[in-house]
This record gives sequence, structure tokens and C-alpha cells, in this order.
Amino acid sequence: MELNDLYRRVIMDHYKNPRNRGELEQESVAIALNNPTCGDRISLQLQLEDGIITDARFTGEGCSISMSSASMMTEAVKGRSYEEALDLAERFSSLMQGQDVEFEELEDIEALSGVNKFPARIKCATLAWNALKKGIEPQTN
Ligand code: FES
Ligand code: FES
Repeated sequence: MELNDLYRRVIMDHYKNPRNRGELEQESVAIALNNPTCGDRISLQLQLEDGIITDARFTGEGCSISMSSASMMTEAVKGRSYEEALDLAERFSSLMQGQDVEFEELEDIEALSGVNKFPARIKCATLAWNALKKGIEPQTN
């Protein structure tokens, strides 16, 4: 697939030097999800405290898009309220639908915007965000 060089560099940087890869000692919630189209999987652990995601870690095996997206997502949601995190997840899905979304200080995430032209890759990029939603949505009900 073709992505521009800057985007490719950002994605490869997160893939090779993943942020927040590993496991928490005492997680509040743990979510495991696969991408049904390829079988790749992600496990996400979140530490939750008073409506805030205080820490996030992930493990799993997958392509560069899925793993870099998990790295970016965990970085983006740490320290955020549940509402802010779910709002970011919404904005990420708009980005994947080809909308022009800005992530302000989280601009690394915008490197994944080029993925929206490749439907199979959208599933890769969205895997970590789906795990996040699965972990947080039950807390907000
Ligand atoms: Fe291009 Fe996986 S990153 S196919
Ligand atoms: Fe499996 Fe991307 S090819 S998550």
C-alpha cells in the first residue's frame, strides 16, 4: 500500500518503538480482541480511577498498522476522562471514513489517515480503538 513518506515514518516509528507495550501490574479492565479478517489480536489493559484512564498498556501480534495504532491510542488516552477517550475514538472513526479530522497535539494519529483508502487496513487501524471502547463503554452506563 502507498502512504506518503511522513506518514509511513510515523507509523514505522510507533511499530518499532511501541509506546505502552506490556502489561500493567494491577489493571482495572482487560480486553482481548481479534481482527476477524486476519486473526491478529490485541490485549489492552486499562487502569481506571475516578472516571480517568490513568494508565494503558497493550500486547499482541499484528501488522504495522494495527500495532502502531495501538501505540498511538494508548498514548492518546492516558490521563483522559472516559468521555474524552470515547470522543477520540469517535473522531478516529471519522478519520477512517475519510473525514478531515484534526487531533491537535496528538498529530501522530493523523498519520493513519492515509489508511482510509484501504478497507482491509481500516480494520487493522481500528482494532485498538474498538478494544478501548469495549473497555470504557460499560463504565459509562
Ligand atoms: Fe501495509 Fe500492513 S502495513 S499491508
Ligand atoms: Fe491483521 Fe492488520 S493484518 S491486524
